[in-house]
Amino acid sequence: MAAGAPADRAFAAAARRLLGQRRLLIATNRGPVTFLGTPDGGVRARRGSGGLVTALSQVGRHVPVTWLAAALSEGDRRVAADPSLAERWQADDRQRLRFVAVERAAQDAAYGVIANPLLWFLQHQMWNLPERPMIDAATLRAWENGYVPVNRAFAEAAVRQARADPEPRIMLHDYHLYLAAAEIRRLRPRAIVSHFTHIPWPPSSLWQAITPAIRTGIVAGLAASDVVGFQTERYAHNFLRCVESFLPEALVDHRARSVTLPDGHVARVRHYPISIDVEATRRVAASRAARRRAEQLLAGSGQQIIVRVDRLEPAKNILRGFAAFEALLQRAPRLRGRVTFLAFLVPSRTGLREYGDYGRKVQAAVERINARFGRAGYRHVQLFYENDYAQALAGLSIADVVLVNPLVDGMNLVAKEAATVSARDAAIVLSETAGAYDQMADGVLPVAPADVAGTADALAAGLAMPRAERARRLALLRAGVEREDITWWLHRQLLDLGRVAARREADGGRA
Ligand code: F6P
Repeated sequence: MAAGAPADRAFAAAARRLLGQRRLLIATNRGPVTFLGTPDGGVRARRGSGGLVTALSQVGRHVPVTWLAAALSEGDRRVAADPSLAERWQADDRQRLRFVAVERAAQDAAYGVIANPLLWFLQHQMWNLPERPMIDAATLRAWENGYVPVNRAFAEAAVRQARADPEPRIMLHDYHLYLAAAEIRRLRPRAIVSHFTHIPWPPSSLWQAITPAIRTGIVAGLAASDVVGFQTERYAHNFLRCVESFLPEALVDHRARSVTLPDGHVARVRHYPISIDVEATRRVAASRAARRRAEQLLAGSGQQIIVRVDRLEPAKNILRGFAAFEALLQRAPRLRGRVTFLAFLVPSRTGLREYGDYGRKVQAAVERINARFGRAGYRHVQLFYENDYAQALAGLSIADVVLVNPLVDGMNLVAKEAATVSARDAAIVLSETAGAYDQMADGVLPVAPADVAGTADALAAGLAMPRAERARRLALLRAGVEREDITWWLHRQLLDLGRVAARREADGGRA
């Protein structure tokens, strides 16, 4: 956004109206950076992984932010105990990072039993319902002694950061923090609170399978926010239906998209498709490290390149992506030795069994394809298993085809990054079930996630597409991402929260 442009001024005005002299408090499980402990008792910073970090890491460039994140690593815990250790990693004071450290057992239970194996799998519809989930006494203990206290700790930390401010502005994020808004409201009844869910919100029929106290607690926890945000209209609608099903005492107004609780509190339910910071993404892609890496990758690849970038995550549907590539090589011998598939997979949740099992299957698929179609000195699939953001953007920049085929995805920012950094007018193959599809449908090659044959067709179509058509599509996608970028996402929420604040002021604090 050009400095002084009308959109820029409107954004600044919305931020001023909502925040005044305050800092925006953001709370997330994963922080923008995570710290690794060094043997001398110090720390070293590393970028966090996942879409949430990609989207939010630059928010401090636009408004002053205090970001609360869970202390997940040993290094994070060191920084939680002594924030001065992290000072040299802090670019300036516009974005302050503060860690919330809870007892390790509680954190592990919240993250490793409830948030990921239960909620993540539920919300990405990855259950194998005849067998899983099994919500037994241990799961209920993890809820009571893990998820609940972690949420309480976040609420208390947010209120502590707000000091004496009776009306702090707090944005909570994602499925790790569904209960925090209710606790904040108990501690600071006039706080202005939003919660944004980065992942899908499935229909109430899926939530029906789990323990009533858990699903009701989650829905009630979210409804305690002033604004409940989702990635797509469909997810917002699904949430309203959940409120009807699980909170019968609440009043749901579908037209106004609001929920009124028995105590008079009103939650507005909205959708805000998240995006990337276009400028910051381009800066990394244009960095010397990324450009050098792009050259190396090009030199080590065939004439055409397919790229995927994902956390190593079952919801990303990586195995079917490889199966589609294998089917393509099988039926089109002329592509053998010509097309390279570069897969940049970021290690994720490595402590969870499901992820370890999935990782081994991914590795086996790569080996199978390379053994089947490779020749001496030529590997069709090159797998990069590391968290190297510049390298991933370098890969996207040189792709002829980018494959983004998640089972379901809240948004999927890789598709938006690809549109932004592509230097070869990549054709983007995108699941219809990714939130990003709603905004990008006109320029991508759509696929249904389980349709391996269809995905092979889409890869073939992308590889065969004339460059001019690729350029036409990419220009369309790029313009959309530039128009609806991360400031646009934030701006719309600042406006909605500003309206809540104005109404509350007019009502003397009661609204
Ligand atoms: O939306 C992005 C996201 O999927 C988050 O919801 C999640 O916290 C993150 O990426 C990565 O997962 P984790 O924090 O468990 O590594």
